[in-house]
Amino acid sequence: MTDQETIAVYDAQIDSYVELVKRESAHPSLVDFIAQIEPGGYVLDLGCGPAIASAAMRDHGLRVDPVDASAEMVRLANANYDINARQAVFNELNVVDVYDGVWANFSLLHASAAEFPVILSAIHDALVSGGYFHIGMKTGNGSARDSLGRLYTYYSATELSEHLKAAGFAIEKTKTGEQRGLAGEVEPWIVVGSRAARMS
Ligand SMILES: C[S@@+](CC[C@H](N)C(=O)[O-])C[C@H]1O[C@@H](n2cnc3c(N)ncnc32)[C@H](O)[C@@H]1O
Repeated sequence: MTDQETIAVYDAQIDSYVELVKRESAHPSLVDFIAQIEPGGYVLDLGCGPAIASAAMRDHGLRVDPVDASAEMVRLANANYDINARQAVFNELNVVDVYDGVWANFSLLHASAAEFPVILSAIHDALVSGGYFHIGMKTGNGSARDSLGRLYTYYSATELSEHLKAAGFAIEKTKTGEQRGLAGEVEPWIVVGSRAARMS
């Protein structure tokens, strides 16, 4: 279930959030993701925020479907980029063989532990066979609200990799680091690139 308190924080803190991520259009993970998708490929930006990544993907010739639960994020994305961002929550994803790639950058950390495996499975179903999946998460354990009120569920690198494999993904690359987030804390993160297993 979508945590409305988390969404309210993004609605209210949108200017600070954009300030934090505005230089991310050339982030190495995004450049790498774009290189994984054939020109003209169709990408779901799940929990797109202000859709900076979607705009960069479109600039590189991809077709994008940016979705986010926050009405303010969607409004700003469309005002800035005229990019057909739409308001939807993770659990609404219910399509098969549609996307060549899914970019879920630091968004699924707001999915509950119970819904996380279900959403990963829905992402796998939504990808074409061999489609590419990028996920960015903060690492740790358990669930907690940060000082702004956003609800997170944390995983270790091992747990995340087990969840991805259980959903049918073959992991291709993993990168870890630390960064100061919107709440001001320096926190560890992980990004994983994986591929939806090909059906024979
Ligand atoms: C940390 S931001 C990441 C935004 C963007 N992917 C980026 O890299 O800048 C998390 C985003 O997930 C969205 N979000 C949180 N819960 C969601 C849900 N249940 N369904 C869809 N989006 C959600 C928030 O509104 C927010 O825009």
